[in-house]
Amino acid sequence: MDYFLYNDGALHAEDVALSQIATAVGTPFYVYSSASLLRHFKLLDDALQGMDHLICYAMKAASNQAILKLLGDAGAGMDVVSGGEYARARAAGIPAERIVFSGVGKTRSEMEMVMRGGIRQFNVESEPEMRLLSQLAVELEQIAPITIRINPDVDAKTHAKISTGKKEDKFGIPISRAREVYALAAGLPGLKIVGIDVHIGSQLTELEPFALAYEKVAKLAEILRADGHEIMRLDLGGGLGIPYEKNNGYPPSPADYGALIREKVGHLGCEIEIEPGRFITGNAGLLVSEVIYVKEGEDREFLIVDGAMNDLIRPAMYGAHHEIVPIVEPAAGADYQPYDVVGPVCESGDTFAKGRALPEMQAGDLIAFRSAGAYGAVMASEYNSRPLVPEVMVHGDQFAVIRARPSLEDIINRDIIPEWQ
Ligand code: LLP
Repeated sequence: MDYFLYNDGALHAEDVALSQIATAVGTPFYVYSSASLLRHFKLLDDALQGMDHLICYAMKAASNQAILKLLGDAGAGMDVVSGGEYARARAAGIPAERIVFSGVGKTRSEMEMVMRGGIRQFNVESEPEMRLLSQLAVELEQIAPITIRINPDVDAKTHAKISTGKKEDKFGIPISRAREVYALAAGLPGLKIVGIDVHIGSQLTELEPFALAYEKVAKLAEILRADGHEIMRLDLGGGLGIPYEKNNGYPPSPADYGALIREKVGHLGCEIEIEPGRFITGNAGLLVSEVIYVKEGEDREFLIVDGAMNDLIRPAMYGAHHEIVPIVEPAAGADYQPYDVVGPVCESGDTFAKGRALPEMQAGDLIAFRSAGAYGAVMASEYNSRPLVPEVMVHGDQFAVIRARPSLEDIINRDIIPEWQ
């Protein structure tokens, strides 16, 4: 079920026509449906019912504070990967005891900020990081709760750029060395082991890699317990995929994912954490853009739109597919024709889709890129001095700008010309 539907021939987000937002805000813009965000969160929450659990939303997927607050109010915690994300989560009102800190390169100042502000746990990814955290904890006279992220050497069968659980990936500690590293942690002052962490990749479309990884985690938990460590928490990472392409099947359901977790690790009696990002926000957001020109090429037609790779980089970066739909509902039996949908940035890579079937389009028409809620706005840049794309949230028949488009003055005034020039 989806909250982006045609109603009276016009694409809506919940009860708001997207054309109405376009008139108020201008294009391009991101729009999120709060009902969709909550629905996705609840599907996962329901899937874990019966197990002591916390859903730590991987806020890297979409980090606007309005989104964080909405999820936080529904009971979510956050998975943060930088001091900036930590500060943002706290500013949105997320309690420190619901925040986990992941990341392969946490700096001393980030760790210090988080220690002072409070944290549920650090997901430690290397021995040098662990030693530094221990030192810092001693200096601050605090105890840092930690899990150690293990790398289970499992193929997540996803895009190479977002696979994180194989031995050649930079993440975590090889599972073969886990006992040794847990023993080291137990001997360092200022640290308290609370569990194990694993995350094998993003946009997983099968359960099998999760199953393999979680089996390894369960075995390791038993071994570590036998070694005398207290393993009371398992952070099982994020990664559950979403459908991007119409008529191309569905990734595993959250219910099946929850059942798998119960089957593989339920017997351990641990508190379960998961870190979903894309599953919650991916299909809860669209990028809306306007057609600037329809241009005749030698052998194709180009739809030149006002959104570009700087606004949504996933097609250029990962070859990702996003469904593109007109804001005005195509008439029944309308003729479709292939378009290359491109942005105005001066690179051929600024191509959203090639030969995409759309009804006949004209300059001024609006289109929406679907499934753009995760890793869309957060990966946007001001390349080509294009203002950062604004974000809007819809709630029933209301909408609000949750991040405004910067003015050209804002952008220009950020530069500082040195006095000597
Ligand atoms: N936990 C950790 C430690 C992660 O590194 C990630 C994502 C997640 C959780 C959330 O994964 P999710 O549930 O969203 O799959 N920019 C890429 C995706 C990068 C994912 C990075 N890590 C894209 O647009 O596809």
